[in-house]
Amino acid sequence: MSQVNENGEHEGVTRRDFLYCATAAAGAVTAGAAIWPLIDQMNPSADVLALAAIEVDIGGVAPGTQLTVKWRGKPVFIRRRTEEEISAARTTDLAELPDELARNANIPDAADAADENRAMDESGEWLVMIGVCTHLGCVPLGNGAGEFGGWFCPCHGSHYDTSGRIRKGPAPENLLIPQAQFVSDTVIKLG
Ligand code: FES
Repeated sequence: MSQVNENGEHEGVTRRDFLYCATAAAGAVTAGAAIWPLIDQMNPSADVLALAAIEVDIGGVAPGTQLTVKWRGKPVFIRRRTEEEISAARTTDLAELPDELARNANIPDAADAADENRAMDESGEWLVMIGVCTHLGCVPLGNGAGEFGGWFCPCHGSHYDTSGRIRKGPAPENLLIPQAQFVSDTVIKLG
């Protein structure tokens, strides 16, 4: 499966992508097995978790681009969406969504997957998500990838829309929205 993105580059499942995912998964299992006993004995206390909050300067992020930062060991996508991306996300019929929940740690668990329940701000310009595929944990490709113009996970072919909601493929849930808030016009705090 392959398609041409806005830069004229081919996107889709390549052998290199597959090898990358397979290697990453094997590495994660090994590391997880090795460190689990230690974590199990030393569950992080509340103050350690609080220290894991970070502030991210988003002042330099242009519309139609995204910043990826590492937070608590995971990639977090911070995307400044275009009008087209926002409009596509907000005009989607919720009945078409495989996962009907917002998956947003900042609002009640039962909130529906309307884009308004996932974006950081009222205008919908900012979308912040954990960049981990909800199928088996690969990092999806962004910048308009996939059949729904959002993100695409090449490991097993999961397509996410411009709101990070799963639309096609084996992933069971929308990309997760972490605890996040604006602390100023140009700084977002994660955690
Ligand atoms: S890990 Fe993303 S589709 Fe399987």
